[in-house]
Amino acid sequence: MNVNQETIVEKVIPLNDFSICYNDRGTGSVPVIFIHGFPFDKSSWYPQMEYLSDEFRVISYDIRGFGKSTAGKENESIDLFADDLINFMDALSIRKAIVCGLSMGGYILLNAISRHPERFYAIVLSDTQCNADDEAGKQKRIETISHVLAGGFQSFADEFVKKIFCSDTLKTKPELVKGILKTILSTSTITVTKTLNALANRSDTCNSLQQISVPALIICGSEDIITPPIKSEFLNNSIRGSRIHFIDKAGHLSNLEQPEEFNNHLINFISAVRNQMDNSSI
Ligand code: MLT
Repeated sequence: MNVNQETIVEKVIPLNDFSICYNDRGTGSVPVIFIHGFPFDKSSWYPQMEYLSDEFRVISYDIRGFGKSTAGKENESIDLFADDLINFMDALSIRKAIVCGLSMGGYILLNAISRHPERFYAIVLSDTQCNADDEAGKQKRIETISHVLAGGFQSFADEFVKKIFCSDTLKTKPELVKGILKTILSTSTITVTKTLNALANRSDTCNSLQQISVPALIICGSEDIITPPIKSEFLNNSIRGSRIHFIDKAGHLSNLEQPEEFNNHLINFISAVRNQMDNSSI
């Protein structure tokens, strides 16, 4: 991912019965928190962390059970992951932040903002959607859980990687593809299957979009087949005053497939939000 991993310092903070491993870099009055998708970890945000940390305080964390965060004993759900985000912010004494979520990270963010709108300065929704799984989607997750439990984790990971990247990335960025495959395979099968269950049972957040009153940026890879552009268009049509960008030659991981373009959209948006906050002295 062209990021010097040696400059990245990891921190750990206990939360109830588990601990969150995170990176916290840079300084600034408006922190930016990144939430990764499934089944990845905080390193999937390193190109954004690297790019923004000269100007902003940027934080990416491993969702419980992923990366180096421990899992705790509670049953995984998107509600629980959203509670974890708020508890994590409390533990870091962050009253409010700009939060950016990709895919499952976006599901968590939409869930959290529907229940705790006062904790967000602005949101970035990348390659995500507000819809819950339909019956066919739930059934597919159940089949995947059985497949993984029957020893099919490697083939699940191999097939998943083919779907998350666009054809250009698969052809031209083998290191990126290999890196993501490694991240997926380093996730425990328990976390993978429990989270698939959490994803299958998540609630729809589409009815809460009209209540969002903070600035919102929506970004989606033009070739995302997991949460296709139409899902982002729906978000954009439903959230007041939001703006949207589609990124060409990108699939589901648009922030990694086209980091320069993604970073440009991101910095323009969060700089505008910060300037607005600074002018109104937060
Ligand atoms: C993700 O990238 O977080 C997942 O693909 C989301 C999903 O499977 O719904």
